[in-house]
Amino acid sequence: MADKVTLGHLAAKKQTGRKITMLTCYDYTMALLVDEAGIDISLVGDSLANVMLGYGSTIPVTLEEIIHHAAAVSRGTRRAFLIGDMPFMTYNISVEEAIRNCGRVIKEAGMEAVKLEGGREVAPVVKAIVDAGIPVMGHMGFTPQTAVKLGGSVIQGRDAAAAQRLIDDARILEDAGAFSLVLECVPDRVAKKITESTSMVTIGIGAGPHCDGQVLVTHDMLGLTRGKKFKFVQRYADFAQGYLDAFRKYIEDVETGKFPTVEHSFAIKDDEFERLG
Ligand code: KIV
Repeated sequence: MADKVTLGHLAAKKQTGRKITMLTCYDYTMALLVDEAGIDISLVGDSLANVMLGYGSTIPVTLEEIIHHAAAVSRGTRRAFLIGDMPFMTYNISVEEAIRNCGRVIKEAGMEAVKLEGGREVAPVVKAIVDAGIPVMGHMGFTPQTAVKLGGSVIQGRDAAAAQRLIDDARILEDAGAFSLVLECVPDRVAKKITESTSMVTIGIGAGPHCDGQVLVTHDMLGLTRGKKFKFVQRYADFAQGYLDAFRKYIEDVETGKFPTVEHSFAIKDDEFERLG
């Protein structure tokens, strides 16, 4: 097994221009595989809400749900750096509550850092969490928890004022102590400008090729989520079809008696069987 990924490894990758890989992860079995493959960062994202729990957005997912899934991911992870996403309203009410909630994700779920959404408005809370000893990854651009406030447009920072605000906010988060920043649905040249002007490790999703690393929702890249595919998603497998083929074959085999056969069963000795009434 390669060395455990640390904040030092991630910073060194940025400095030497080696790309950082990050995937979302929500359960033990997936964590074992993500880790074995050599992914640098496992994110227990609040996309858990959509892909695992069937909520219509990330808003309803609770801290207890994140902790429950994150603890399973940490049990399946040896190498990857572990980040837990903070659900909506677990870091927005007060600094004290934010520190307490982030502390639970670290202590109870075994995460090594937390991620939270927002720019300058969350800087005081980011500083307080970092001061309490918890590494923080920011998340700017399209922020699903506040999608309603963003007014329906997914791509952020498309005009000079909005792009400048993203650049300024990145600097403010860096000053607050964030070690990394997810840039979601941001024009590639804006992501490049931010990446080149910050010591934070930038991780893109729909932000082009110039970030220090890349994240995808694992269910999207495995082709487990169906329906419309976002432009920024690259599918590396069609496991939805694989699941369907397997489920349908199982139905057919059970219904036609092809499975199970005696080979799938266990023997009883003849003399024991003959003693039965
Ligand atoms: O929850 C999530 O999956 C995320 C990634 C898209 C970065 O926040």
